[in-house]
Amino acid sequence: MAVPTTFPNSVRIVEVGARDGLQNEKSVTTEDKVTLINDLIDAGLKHIEGGAFVSPKWVPQMSDSSDVFAAVKRSDEVLFSALTPNLKGAELALNAKVGEFAIFTAASEAFTQKNINCSIEQSIERFRPVVELANQHGIKVRGYVSCVLGCPYQGPVSPEQVLDVCKQLLALGCYEVSLGDTIGVGTANEVEALLSLLLEHIDANQLAVHFHDTYGQAISNIYAALKMGISTVDSAVAGLGGCPYAKGASGNVATEDVVYLLQKLGIDTGIDLKTLARAGERVCNALGKKPQSKVANAILASEE
Ligand code: HMG
Ligand code: MG
Repeated sequence: MAVPTTFPNSVRIVEVGARDGLQNEKSVTTEDKVTLINDLIDAGLKHIEGGAFVSPKWVPQMSDSSDVFAAVKRSDEVLFSALTPNLKGAELALNAKVGEFAIFTAASEAFTQKNINCSIEQSIERFRPVVELANQHGIKVRGYVSCVLGCPYQGPVSPEQVLDVCKQLLALGCYEVSLGDTIGVGTANEVEALLSLLLEHIDANQLAVHFHDTYGQAISNIYAALKMGISTVDSAVAGLGGCPYAKGASGNVATEDVVYLLQKLGIDTGIDLKTLARAGERVCNALGKKPQSKVANAILASEE
């Protein structure tokens, strides 16, 4: 399969701030989460990962996901997704009227054990009934592969290992696999090397990128991925984010920064940058922190 070398005409943004962003925050109320999601909808986001149906013993911050989904504004235009690590999570997500399930494993055995308490192989088996339930109800399933550019426990991760796990998730029935640089260590040349291999076997429209920004490389990594034909990007408003089981992982790439880049590339996203920056400011005020987006901070400063 030839590797594309042109930018996509349109890009889908999967906004993960309300899940990946808030799963690490101790003091955030259900109301803050609902306000954030409603603000994101007002800014034009169309695919929002709004929560996680994971064990409350493991990630208590996500234990109100059912309440969040019950309270947010609903419209046919916005797709809500949630993490569903097992059948129990999928059943809860179904009850919460989530439009898409997200199953998640990793290209590293050590990280999979720490994050979901099983091996990669066991995780795939655990996902089978999740996908079956989704199929029964016409719900799409997205897959995540964490640690695609490095693991906090194991160190380097080979592109071949990433390919193997991606293939397993696609064979299981995922329509798309999101490639997580969970600890934000990768650089653009490494993204190119990984995608060069993956795109020999997998269509570009079945892959998404999910880059954390720990080392400040996420935007250049996204640019490299877009250039290779990837047209789905995960990001979190205000650069919120981090995984409780990935030591040193900081926020996701900020949605504001991604939208700014896409606008400059002439790729329309339908997202209003000012409204988005204010959404990030509001949730950051609730969290008592400053938005981790240079674009948002520049926009907000120009409004003062
Ligand atoms: P376990 O302890 O092995 O599971 O956890 P278990 O089946 O033995 O259950 C233990 C208890 O949890 C039981 O309760 C279950 O009922 C309950 P008890 O009988 O002791 O009272 N339980 C649940 N409760 C609610 N919802 C559920 C659920 N499942 C079990 N779904 C498990 C295994 C997978 C559940 C656990 O390890 C877990 O929840 N892990 C999630 C960790 C997590 O959320 N990590 C962060 C998200 S991943 C991420 O951030 C990476 C990503 O962004 C991509 C990237 O950046 O790379 C996606
Ligand atoms: Mg993540």
